[in-house]
Amino acid sequence: MRLLKIIATLFVAASLSLGASAVSASEGGELKASHFSFEGLFGTYDKAAAQRGFQVYQEACSSCHAMSLVAIRNLGDPGAPFYDEEHPNASESPVIKAIAAMFTVTDGPDNEGDMFERPAKPSDYFPAPFANDQAARASNGGALPPDFSMLVRARAHGPQYIYSLLTSYEDEAPEGVEIRPGMNYNPAFNGGLIGMPPPLFEELVEYSDGTHASVEQMAHDVVTFMAWASDPKMEVRKRMGWMVMIYLFIFALLMYGSYKAVWRDVKH
Ligand code: HEC
Repeated sequence: MRLLKIIATLFVAASLSLGASAVSASEGGELKASHFSFEGLFGTYDKAAAQRGFQVYQEACSSCHAMSLVAIRNLGDPGAPFYDEEHPNASESPVIKAIAAMFTVTDGPDNEGDMFERPAKPSDYFPAPFANDQAARASNGGALPPDFSMLVRARAHGPQYIYSLLTSYEDEAPEGVEIRPGMNYNPAFNGGLIGMPPPLFEELVEYSDGTHASVEQMAHDVVTFMAWASDPKMEVRKRMGWMVMIYLFIFALLMYGSYKAVWRDVKH
């Protein structure tokens, strides 16, 4: 039975290490406790939240933040906010086509050597708000709005950190902290002073599903969307991980059974 015990221990240890993502300490700012559907071993993206988060990104963030590694059709891939079983090929999905129609992209050069604008197709990547980093800095008082494609993964405790950042703006800085022109006080940001003005305020967007658009709600939704953008294959990967674990478990039991059978009549 010892072997069985060892196998069971390994199995439990492996599943625990997969699930360990608890918040310990932040990098400098203060983190607010917040929980997301995609955390933990079985966590998946809350599709409704991710769809609302896409709306928040579009209406409240995309004028400054690019998301250059995500193609419009990725929104309809398995595990994505707008995945539709009836349209496994996202480029054919009417929802994705409708989203693509919201954008114009620069293409070219044409036969005369000029760049031109055209309506976006599902295969296009999200158009960036600025032509380059210099233009982005020039419009933001010297601060560069980071690209959203990997941001949740690039920050320690990404989801909690970004949620805290979006909900922690304060008008008044504590005694001794001077808010320089163009800066904003936000205790969640390392150092407390951030170049980004508060991007969210009550009912900034109007959700079509009737959800009340509080700052906390929008922050939660946009973080869910950004988490998906940073790790679009998470759901597929987790499912695969479980299949492999279950397969190995059954395989181990079979091996144990055959070991017993083979050695049954042999003294050892
Ligand atoms: C008016 C332009 C503007 C808008 C709109 C905007 N941001 Fe920003 N954002 C910035 C700038 C500039 C920075 C860089 C700040 C700095 O380094 O001081 C930034 C930084 C960030 C950061 C990174 C903080 C870090 O740790 O480096 C996050 C996360 C972020 N923004 C999220 C959002 C979200 C989510 C939205 C939409 C709800 C949004 N931003 C809307 C300009 C903007």
